[in-house]
Amino acid sequence: MREKGIFISFEGPDGAGKTSVLQIILQRLKPIFGENLLITREPGGADNPIAEQIRNLVLSSNYSDIDLRTEVLLFAAARRQHLVQTIIPALENGKLVISDRYVDSSVAYQGGGREIGVQKVLDVNQFATEGILPDKTIYFNIRPEIGIQRINSTRTNEINRLDTDTIDFHKRVNKTYLELADDNKRRYEIVNAEANLEKVVEETWQLVKKIIDI
Ligand SMILES: Nc1ncnc2c1ncn2[C@@H]1O[C@H](COP(=O)(O)OP(=O)(O)O)[C@@H](O)[C@H]1O
Ligand SMILES: [Mg+2]
Repeated sequence: MREKGIFISFEGPDGAGKTSVLQIILQRLKPIFGENLLITREPGGADNPIAEQIRNLVLSSNYSDIDLRTEVLLFAAARRQHLVQTIIPALENGKLVISDRYVDSSVAYQGGGREIGVQKVLDVNQFATEGILPDKTIYFNIRPEIGIQRINSTRTNEINRLDTDTIDFHKRVNKTYLELADDNKRRYEIVNAEANLEKVVEETWQLVKKIIDI
């Protein structure tokens, strides 16, 4: 089965600017796509209460004792629900779908960061997604310490469990992302996320325009 729409994921470490850039790009895409645009995010997802409930559970700072494999399974469960209930219907309707995070986040964070192993996390996600991957992944490339600095200096009211991990954890996440980019060269597009927001937006916009062919 190949859907008619276009599926793009935004990936990268915390603080890379994915959400900020997506909000600005959304304003440029709206006039072009109108209703044929779905902006969503993981864990959870647009109009997806089941996946959003799982999001609340996995990101809650109340549950720091969550088992590592439980965490992988919950992310994968949320992803499955998001995929079948939100992403696939939109693609079947020919929409442009941009998701702020998807499978590669699990591979980087749980596989690499939590050291569960890339292949194990890929296997669980193969089951969850039946192998459905984005057409393109835009990777926000930033040294993890810079991303963390940005979060610490600006985002005081939205600290979640993953933000409080050690720098070594975030370095492993980053390394795994770069390996994923290397293993998926045709799918990955890389932006320099260390530049100022305006530049990152422009670089991302050029890539998105190329992907959607406008
Ligand atoms: N290019 C940039 N330069 C400086 N600060 C940025 C840049 N992009 C985003 N920020 C700031 O960094 C913080 C994290 O950005 P955010 O978009 O939430 O990143 P992400 O979604 O990748 O975790 C926000 O406070 C945002 O305003
Ligand atoms: Mg974000």
